[in-house]
Amino acid sequence: MITTVPTQPIAGQKPGTSGLRKKTPVFIGRHYLENFTQAIFDVVGAKGKTFVLGGDGRYFNDRAAQVILRMAAANGAARVIVGQGANLSTPAASHLIRLNKTDGGIIMSASHNPGGPEEDFGVKFNMPNGGPAPESVTEAMFRRTEEITEYQMLEAQDVDLATVGRQTLGGMIVDVVDPVSDYAALMETLFDFPALRALFAGGFRMRMDAMCAVTGPYAVEILENRLGAAQGTVTHATPLPDFGGMHPDPNPTWAHELMAEMMGPDAPDFGAASDGDGDRNMVVGRGIYVSPSDSLAVLAANAHLAPGYARGLAGVARSMPTSAAADRVADALGIAKFETPTGWKFFGNLLDDGKVTLCGEESFGTGSDHVREKDGLWAILLWLNILAVRKQSVADILAEHWAKYGRNYYSRHDFEAIATDKADAMITALRATLPGLPGQQIEGMTITAADDFAYTDPVDGSVSAKQGVRILFADGSRIVMRLSGTGTEGATLRVYLERYAAGPDGLDLDPQEALAPVIRAAHSLARLTEFTGRDAPDVVT
Ligand code: G1P
Ligand code: ZN
Repeated sequence: MITTVPTQPIAGQKPGTSGLRKKTPVFIGRHYLENFTQAIFDVVGAKGKTFVLGGDGRYFNDRAAQVILRMAAANGAARVIVGQGANLSTPAASHLIRLNKTDGGIIMSASHNPGGPEEDFGVKFNMPNGGPAPESVTEAMFRRTEEITEYQMLEAQDVDLATVGRQTLGGMIVDVVDPVSDYAALMETLFDFPALRALFAGGFRMRMDAMCAVTGPYAVEILENRLGAAQGTVTHATPLPDFGGMHPDPNPTWAHELMAEMMGPDAPDFGAASDGDGDRNMVVGRGIYVSPSDSLAVLAANAHLAPGYARGLAGVARSMPTSAAADRVADALGIAKFETPTGWKFFGNLLDDGKVTLCGEESFGTGSDHVREKDGLWAILLWLNILAVRKQSVADILAEHWAKYGRNYYSRHDFEAIATDKADAMITALRATLPGLPGQQIEGMTITAADDFAYTDPVDGSVSAKQGVRILFADGSRIVMRLSGTGTEGATLRVYLERYAAGPDGLDLDPQEALAPVIRAAHSLARLTEFTGRDAPDVVT
């Protein structure tokens, strides 16, 4: 029984940096999920197609999955592969899309945003390559939501998502699969599991904070069951609909429990955390935090030590706000390097075209061509593989890296929940000053260039403009400012700060101290306090 349900456009269903994200009550609102889901199927077509479906287990994930399944059936889809319990980490979903050569997938997640009845929910569509839909596709979905008049719904009982196996829903096949096994098998092809088992058997200690989010079962299976890390290595390992009240964002502010342990007297050798949907990662050594930009650079310099990358890298890509540390490695290796706008979708073409093997963002995202999403556990396993081969501490590896390449001191300051009009006014005013900045002196540094980053995709020629204001200095320092595209409350201003030290002296400073003049320059050039009323960031990474 298929019903055609009359509906009306709902304003604001515009996907941001990573899908459509809203407060949960908005998503639960009448027709909200249904309109957006129909817009997805109207744009990509559902008839006779196969999709993957899963989410990060947050509140409303299970009910949303039932709605999406009924709509997929009503729209004529042939088959949907669903993670058991409607759970799939984002990288695992990307892998299942590729492994099964499906026509794409729907991921229910608001990533690192808190979950719960009053928190955040999100839906995004991934393409047959496993990667997030590009802007042309998400724009078409948005336009569709503005003109929608009806959606298709199958009248049926809930599918049993708790049991692995095949069922039917109307004329559609529903395959409920174990969320972990295919992903774990992929990891075994990339990393030297025997060497990692030997590492843990030799007494290597690790702490992995899964932050009550979707990575827990993946990390327990791979780290504890397959690699023999001590039981209890993975903490907050059970996914909860509200992430246990945690903010599942793996950064020093929100993963403070892990940070305290790693900086404490009985710190294990290695610490890591991942986010709500398992695509982000934070890496910490005993007594030392690894900035995501440095992590990308170290992984690029050492990836060949893992079997999956033994042939070397085709190239490395980083988002524009990410520090240039990875560029120095690419130059030294004589491989290609790319600078893309913020958001993983911009790496898709470079990966599909074989131009790059590794990608990363300063926002705790690292990944490779094994899937088309960033992948938290993958990054953690690559670090472990490198540690197993080099038999050095994280601190020693970083020190050697900086001694060889110099150090890109780096930090990001976030100012959250600013009134949108104030944030917009600040950015507009800053943009207007850009042409006059080159040549000016501030904090003893000379500005050499100032612009709004625009990107021309080298594969399909598409242009993305206004991707962030950049102010570059003669000494290699840099300020980048942009407004977040994933927030659900007011505006979040992100200020990215970078300063290069060639060494051999001055490689051991506290980043906030090393960056102090750059921070002062950023506040003054943007008239940040004047416009926003803020003088200190809410989150520092
Ligand atoms: C943020 C990060 C960006 C990342 C995205 C999705 O987007 O800055 O690097 O790709 O989340 O995880 P933003 O809120 O800055 O638009
Ligand atoms: Zn995420």
